[in-house]
Amino acid sequence: MSLYAEPPKSLSINDLASMKQAGEKISCLTAYDASFASLLDQAGIDVLLVGDSLGMVIQGHSSTLPVTIQDMVYHTRNVTAARKRAYVIADLPFASYASPEQALLNAAQLMQLAGAQMVKLEGAKFDVIRFLVEQGIPVCGHLGLLPQSVNQLGGYRVQGREPEQAGQILNDALAIEQAGARLLLLECVPALLAAQISQALTIPVIGIGAGVDCDGQVLVLYDMLNISMGKRPRFSKNFMAEANSIEDAILSYLNAVKNRQFPAAEQAY
Ligand code: KIV
Repeated sequence: MSLYAEPPKSLSINDLASMKQAGEKISCLTAYDASFASLLDQAGIDVLLVGDSLGMVIQGHSSTLPVTIQDMVYHTRNVTAARKRAYVIADLPFASYASPEQALLNAAQLMQLAGAQMVKLEGAKFDVIRFLVEQGIPVCGHLGLLPQSVNQLGGYRVQGREPEQAGQILNDALAIEQAGARLLLLECVPALLAAQISQALTIPVIGIGAGVDCDGQVLVLYDMLNISMGKRPRFSKNFMAEANSIEDAILSYLNAVKNRQFPAAEQAY
């Protein structure tokens, strides 16, 4: 039996844009399966991100690189089967969008076979974004720390501390909006830079390790439930520490995001 009094209205990209305009923070968590997707949806989380972080938290790899498009289709289908209200974004995995044509084939799988409403891709791939948008595919950009480029970056580090790199990230963010992206995820950048970018862009900016002034926040679900293997990143928080149940922890995250209590200074750079 559903816990909903009546079926909730499914959120659209326009609803997320209106939230930014109204100053309402957008809550987002990663989801990889139907049971958690249903819990998050019923708690009122606005956006479910089927992240390629599943390579680490579900598959046990040390990076997101081994994740395939088949993995993403499988997990995205599980999430969309359970969600009623939340907006669902699916990651294009490593090396699945090297050209606009390859990106289209893979994004189409995430949307047609798995029901994603938007795809996310990492980096300053303006041509790919423009092409996908022309084909009617909503795109979320991803700047700052790019986990799919970890071997090139030499580790998971804060990006944009130096003025030159900060300027580059700001310019890339503006160009991603110009290319037609409808959302931007900023990962592990100084809070001041993220605030500047969130102000400069008309599209919503979702932060992870990017301070409280982004238009919304995302965390890896297993990190905030404290069930990930290994060390929790500094920008995350164990919401189970003061909760009696998983539902409590999710609601406490939702409230903390909406009320600007998360992230606090200790979770920002
Ligand atoms: O794959 C993922 O979970 C992400 C995080 C930055 C939220 O992209």
